[in-house]
Amino acid sequence: AQSLPYAPVPNQRRHASKHRLFVNELSHALFEFVVQLLPTTEELVVKEDVRKLLERLIRTIEPESRLLSFGSTANGFNLRNSDMDLCCLIDSVERLSASDLVVMLGDLLERETKFHVKPLPHARIPIVKLSLDPSPGLPSGIACDIGFENRLALENTRLLMCYAMIDPTRVRTLVLFLKVWSKRRKINSPYHGTLSSYGYVLLVIYFLVHVKNPPVLPNLQQLPPVRPISKEDTHIDGHNTWFFDDIDLLCQRWRSSNTETVAELLIDFFRYYSRDFSYNTGVASIRAGMLKKESKGWQNDLSSSKFHDSRERNRFCIEDPFETDFNVARCVTREGLYQIRGEFMRASRILATRPRALVALSQLCEE
Ligand code: CTP
Ligand code: MG
Repeated sequence: AQSLPYAPVPNQRRHASKHRLFVNELSHALFEFVVQLLPTTEELVVKEDVRKLLERLIRTIEPESRLLSFGSTANGFNLRNSDMDLCCLIDSVERLSASDLVVMLGDLLERETKFHVKPLPHARIPIVKLSLDPSPGLPSGIACDIGFENRLALENTRLLMCYAMIDPTRVRTLVLFLKVWSKRRKINSPYHGTLSSYGYVLLVIYFLVHVKNPPVLPNLQQLPPVRPISKEDTHIDGHNTWFFDDIDLLCQRWRSSNTETVAELLIDFFRYYSRDFSYNTGVASIRAGMLKKESKGWQNDLSSSKFHDSRERNRFCIEDPFETDFNVARCVTREGLYQIRGEFMRASRILATRPRALVALSQLCEE
């Protein structure tokens, strides 16, 4: 009687297979759900045409300039009708200041194009905001921001793109679903005290790299480099932007031993951020794992801080992957965080009742 094979009692077995059925059906539904929200080829073509047109116009002011996409248009996390984030890089040494460029470009675009133009030369990061009204060929119009010399944003876009490439199905499905979910549940607005899309993407990557065991993704910023790297090549404005970006090579050498389905990961994501993440003391860092607010000087100590503002800034802490002194969640207010955590809990509750997959998705994303 030494090695009796373990056989689950029938009741447990039924339970396990019911769970399997639920997560398989939900994974399939999640995948189908995000696929129909991807941008159409026409939309991508129109956007690329817009980028080229704008680049041509900018070159009449700064001949040595390039206009590059960043954000969701460039990292594989774009949904239908998402905004365009563009960044102008100027390769000449003598160039106009960002705020002068914003003013000049604003005037030029006003004269030469049909866009509604709003130059913001005095913003923390000076940008020109553009929009195009809906038309039959472009039912949702276009919204676009043009910034200048934002090289860190180009690099963090490339980092997120590389993470998406390692495990496209699971990573993209999770991220795209959470973007839709957070928008429909109205917790995706830094202006209203909640979190940007960029913040949610970092939460997903953090979860897949540092919370899941075995991890779904490796830590691209901590892998050993294959060739020597020089400081000049990897630093931008004093920030180390190096990461392992040879994804073909990586996929030859590394494979996650985590085989969970998208649905299992999503259920666990909601559970982790509703129950386990230490909002009061922790900082989510995709570079270094869980850090302490204290060690970064990001305390949220109500008694010792005289400044309402600085206190308010660190309720929820997500370290930017490269600009490590920047808290990506700094706009999240007390009420915003309450709302966000409430939504994580609500989602967990819905999924715990194991409804049919389509019912689950429509309840989760109910507006
Ligand atoms: N970004 C950043 N720091 C922030 C917010 C944004 O560097 N605090 C940069 C990132 O490069 C990010 C890009 O701006 O990829 C766009 O941010 P956001 O609009 O929040 O994300 P998207 O993925 O573009 O989401 P959406 O489709 O909702 O626009
Ligand atoms: Mg965007």
